[in-house]
Amino acid sequence: MSRVFSGIQPSGELHIGNYVGAVSEWARLMDEGHECYYCIVDYHAMTQPYDPEIMEKRVLEMAAGLMAAGIDPERAVLFVQSQVPEHTELAWMLMTVTPMGELSRQTQYKDKARRQEGNVNVGLFAYPVLQAADILLYKGELVPVGEDQRQHLELAREIVRKFRSRFGYEFPEPQPRFGRIKRLKGLDGRDKMSKSLGNTITLTETEDQRWEKLRTAFTDPARVRKSDPGHPEICNIYTMHTFFTPEEEREEIAGACRKGEIGCFECKKRLNARMTEHLAPIQDRYADLLKNISDIRDILRQGGKRARAVAQETVKEVRSAAGLIDLEGR
Ligand code: TRP
Repeated sequence: MSRVFSGIQPSGELHIGNYVGAVSEWARLMDEGHECYYCIVDYHAMTQPYDPEIMEKRVLEMAAGLMAAGIDPERAVLFVQSQVPEHTELAWMLMTVTPMGELSRQTQYKDKARRQEGNVNVGLFAYPVLQAADILLYKGELVPVGEDQRQHLELAREIVRKFRSRFGYEFPEPQPRFGRIKRLKGLDGRDKMSKSLGNTITLTETEDQRWEKLRTAFTDPARVRKSDPGHPEICNIYTMHTFFTPEEEREEIAGACRKGEIGCFECKKRLNARMTEHLAPIQDRYADLLKNISDIRDILRQGGKRARAVAQETVKEVRSAAGLIDLEGR
């Protein structure tokens, strides 16, 4: 069994992209019996513009969403990053071995810097170092994430090597674990599904709300009329079928699409029905959980305590490896 760590920003409701790309994998690894740490990374969220008035609400809703989607706080440590101060402490120490050049080559940094031009803050630049600290504090070995995090994980491994050669301290090198769908595109069929791009389907939308979005969602560009042969392998709607629709029905849809026998409209209708089936129980659990905010707070508080006990041990070892003075006999 491995140590598993992953994190998600509390930057809005969970959407289908988070769910099929990462969170369903979080639940699977937990079900397989790995030792899992799942963290709501609010310090990371601070690097983008946000409204402090609703941050707390977003954290609580994200916790409810994760639990509704299958994360059981009895079998995984579910907690909030800012409740464990060791995250920022270790991040600082890791920064001292992280090359500026590597950080400036991170595509996520470059994209965000372009998108939030007036606010290119140091936190945005150092974001991947904090992410490495998240993982390494718990000696995470497996990191279930979407494909977009590949480069950040490579950097985390580079930091592990640099830290070893500088201080002789050995963290395990974390490996990414991609879900069945590595990268789900948004409704525009172009960029990855992402809250900030406004191209998502959230986990809590009704069938009608989803239909409004699916109706106009991008499919196979080569297909204009229903009778045109389609190409399921390049169609984002079909990619969604691969998660939500059982294999037999999916094969039938793919065959009919290739022969021009079924149109995008019907294909989307059938996807939406399967989504409703899959998501309804999640939506019910989510609504139930939100009735008891104080229970969610208790769960996160407990998770924070469990996480912190582990984090403090690691930081103690790292401080000693780095030769920092110990005046408290820690
Ligand atoms: N950067 C990740 C994302 O945007 C979130 C994250 C923060 C994370 N810390 C992490 C993911 C540690 C995995 C491990 O999706």
